[in-house]
Amino acid sequence: MELAERGRGRVSPNPLVGAVVVRDGAVIGEGFHAELGGLHAEWAALEDCRRRGGDPAGATMYVTLEPCAHQGRQPPCAEAILEAGISRVVIASEDPSEKASGRGPGILRDGGVEVASAAGAEAASARLLNQPFRKHARTGLPLVTLKMAMSLDGRTSTAPGDSPWISGEPSRALVHRWRAESDAIAVGIGTVLADDPLLTARHPDARQPIRVVFDSQARLPLDSQLLATLDQSPVLVVAPPDADPNRVSALRDAGVEILVTGGATPADRIASALADLGRREITSLFLEGGRTLASAFHAADQIDESRTFIAPVLLAPSTTDPRSGGVGVGGFPPHGGCGGQGPSPASASSRRPEQRAVQGRPPTPTTGPARLSALESHVEQVGDDTLITARFREW
Ligand SMILES: NC(=O)c1ccc[n+]([C@@H]2O[C@H](COP(=O)([O-])OP(=O)(O)OC[C@H]3O[C@@H](n4cnc5c(N)ncnc54)[C@H](OP(=O)(O)O)[C@@H]3O)[C@@H](O)[C@H]2O)c1
Repeated sequence: MELAERGRGRVSPNPLVGAVVVRDGAVIGEGFHAELGGLHAEWAALEDCRRRGGDPAGATMYVTLEPCAHQGRQPPCAEAILEAGISRVVIASEDPSEKASGRGPGILRDGGVEVASAAGAEAASARLLNQPFRKHARTGLPLVTLKMAMSLDGRTSTAPGDSPWISGEPSRALVHRWRAESDAIAVGIGTVLADDPLLTARHPDARQPIRVVFDSQARLPLDSQLLATLDQSPVLVVAPPDADPNRVSALRDAGVEILVTGGATPADRIASALADLGRREITSLFLEGGRTLASAFHAADQIDESRTFIAPVLLAPSTTDPRSGGVGVGGFPPHGGCGGQGPSPASASSRRPEQRAVQGRPPTPTTGPARLSALESHVEQVGDDTLITARFREW
């Protein structure tokens, strides 16, 4: 699994895979899938074994994902294992994609190889290694990881004119690594208009993710940094069919691809956009906000994981801050939200319809905002910030 991890950010839409060839308790070959179109882990491990002067015949191969049986960018691994005379294969996780689903292990068994499966913690770790691949294989949709940075007082936006960064340098470096590991990054047009971000991965050897802007009125400025850096990675604008045709064609002329999505509600449009991104073999989407788009993803039930930085700063607005949207109790905006404009992630659009206010009347208190239920969460220190990682689904 450590070998497999070395391919992160380089092999998508393929899975991360590592393989080790063992004889009499000693490793005689090891390999991993290092780049898209490159050798699969099993081939790499067998090659490594031969390079070291070893003979894989009669040895055991441990592999993190079931060996493939199909001819893709590389020849089938099950065939290579049979040809090498490996006598036992231990598989840590099954491959849920349609072209795999047990075919490789079947070919190996038919060829007289003993096939065993890992269980418990090893099997779980192998599945977690490949969550984007597994979700994409099972649903056709990318895995969505929400990243948010907030102040101690729960705000996600700084004052106009201030640096948009809430989290510290080490956290931002980590964000750049996560961007490099993702197939695509998404933001709402609100974030682009407020911050004019680049959304590139400033990380050594980074593969640049595709940049996606949810922008239903095609408002993405033609002089934005996103458009100025189209040579680094493509920009995709998600817009409905009725977006202003002049703005749409100006964006197209500037080199932006328009992803036309239907759907009656913001949540429907998100589901439709995700399906389209999945068809383009985007297996992981790093959702960088802002809160309005994050709320819509929440309402669409499309957040698989979250990474939240809490920075040791307080950003409560002054009573004259025009972006506070007026002042509510204790100096906070009247929408009860936590920073900037728009609803908080757990309010407005993420609420069930019966919870929304009707004609100026306050909403009837029911059960509170819809909550995600974490399968697993983890807290760690990153520089001066606290990072909370939570996983809501397993694929
Ligand atoms: N702390 C953090 O982690 C973080 C991260 C990112 C941004 N920010 C801050 O957040 C602020 C911007 O946040 P924001 O909430 O105003 O804007 P946002 O979430 O970035 O963008 C919201 C806009 O996206 C558009 N949109 C298109 N399709 C949508 C859909 N399906 N669902 C929802 N929205 C959709 C809508 O505008 P149209 O209707 O015009 O399309 C909507 O107003 C900035 O101040 C930025 O600095 C903070």
